[in-house]
Amino acid sequence: MGIKRKEVIGDCVLYLGDCLEVLPSIGPVDAVITDPVWPKHGGIFGDIDAHELLSRAVSRIDANRLVVHMRNDQDPRFLTAIAESWPFLQMMWMRFAAVGYMGRFLTGNDVAYAFGSWPKSKPGRRVLPAVAPVQTSPTDRSKHPTPRGEKHVEWLVSNWSDGIVLDPFMGSGTTGVACVNIGRVFVGIEVNPQYFDIACRRIESAHSQMRLFGASPVTELEQETLLVGING
Ligand SMILES: C[S@@+](CC[C@H](N)C(=O)[O-])C[C@H]1O[C@@H](n2cnc3c(N)ncnc32)[C@H](O)[C@@H]1O
Repeated sequence: MGIKRKEVIGDCVLYLGDCLEVLPSIGPVDAVITDPVWPKHGGIFGDIDAHELLSRAVSRIDANRLVVHMRNDQDPRFLTAIAESWPFLQMMWMRFAAVGYMGRFLTGNDVAYAFGSWPKSKPGRRVLPAVAPVQTSPTDRSKHPTPRGEKHVEWLVSNWSDGIVLDPFMGSGTTGVACVNIGRVFVGIEVNPQYFDIACRRIESAHSQMRLFGASPVTELEQETLLVGING
């Protein structure tokens, strides 16, 4: 079992496999930024106990901090899967401009919880905001059942990492795309070959665009962060 495939795209290393088997071979990283299988996943990812999976994955992680991203209808008690040796730092709100509904629930917000040690203070990141800029661009729902907003994930990566970022539940690769756009080394693991292929394509496309335009969206994000800090 273990690693079934490995792809290297620029500064991103992507593994196809079960993260519980792959994680022991990954060295220390700066930050784990991930959107794991949620407790209320309705079986879309198979017969998975979200609490147990997260607990076993976290016990295999060597990182300075861990940021867990999820929709705000998810029971936060599943975060008890994260051992108390990871100090809780803060919770963050991430809103979507376009909202929908699921039964009585309005789907307009994501949340993220940060654990571990605070990232270094630096210009544009002296104060870490708890409210993200609103995600205005739509997420592509045709490719993965639960893709997160790229701008939200860029905001998390920009604020919460300095070095290598790891996502053991990579899905369609949104964290990898954010890392390419922000300029971070990325390691991603995904168990489903279909989602793995989507992640490879999205990260390859982000990488080609960066090479083509040489753009640096970090500046824009740092400005947004500063504004949020001043206004908030
Ligand atoms: C909530 S989704 C992540 C979606 C991702 N944030 C995105 O934007 O596309 C969780 C992912 O974890 C994957 N997964 C489930 N069990 C896994 C395991 N043991 N190892 C690695 N990936 C796993 C699922 O296939 C799913 O794609």
